[in-house]
Amino acid sequence: MDVREAIRERRSLLLFDEQPVSQALLDELIQLSVWAPNHRLTEPWRFHVLDRAALRELFQAVLAEMVEKGVLPPDHDESEHMNQLPPFGVVISQAPPSIADNPLVEMEDYAACCCVAQNFMLAAHAEGIGTMWLTGPMAMASAAAERLDLEEGSKIVGLIAVGYPREGMRKRSGLRKEPSVTWLTAASAADPAASP
Ligand SMILES: Cc1cc2nc3c(=O)[nH]c(=O)nc-3n(C[C@H](O)[C@H](O)[C@H](O)COP(=O)(O)O)c2cc1C
Repeated sequence: MDVREAIRERRSLLLFDEQPVSQALLDELIQLSVWAPNHRLTEPWRFHVLDRAALRELFQAVLAEMVEKGVLPPDHDESEHMNQLPPFGVVISQAPPSIADNPLVEMEDYAACCCVAQNFMLAAHAEGIGTMWLTGPMAMASAAAERLDLEEGSKIVGLIAVGYPREGMRKRSGLRKEPSVTWLTAASAADPAASP
């Protein structure tokens, strides 16, 4: 698939098919995704692959924490979502910064992890596999960090739901606004109205 097509056509997937995704392919997509820009080559990304049962346990632990903290009422019902879990979830976490107390390094590492996530989703799309990047309360929950056994100082960048698209599934809006673009050129510095 042409890279332009992959970028334009990838859309977050809400519903997944039962068709299993091969673990070998999943591993290949992960190996490919790390060819991302990464200042200082810190390679801050960590992958945690969860099958459906492990995903269910993770979400249940997060829900329990939300109820305990009073964010959700005790009778909160997530059974609909729990019955529609994808075959796999790939959590990308950001390792603790290699240089402590340096917000720039932390920002660069987060950015590199986001590039990896997008690489992963585009590569998956090119294989006919759908994805959806999820954060929500899970990204901040200590129950999730515990379940994933994250190192102190690590952060969850996102959980990428992975699976083949369910027949007739709804896709998210593919619309994008015209981006705001400012060109700064020698000519525009002399005459701001002269931007191409
Ligand atoms: C950092 C990040 C976090 C996201 N978290 C969620 C989420 O928690 N729940 C959700 O429904 N979608 C989430 N999304 C997916 C966006 O909603 C989705 O990308 C957006 O609607 C655009 O749709 P598209 O991916 O099909 O282009 C997240 C996306 C990003 C980049």
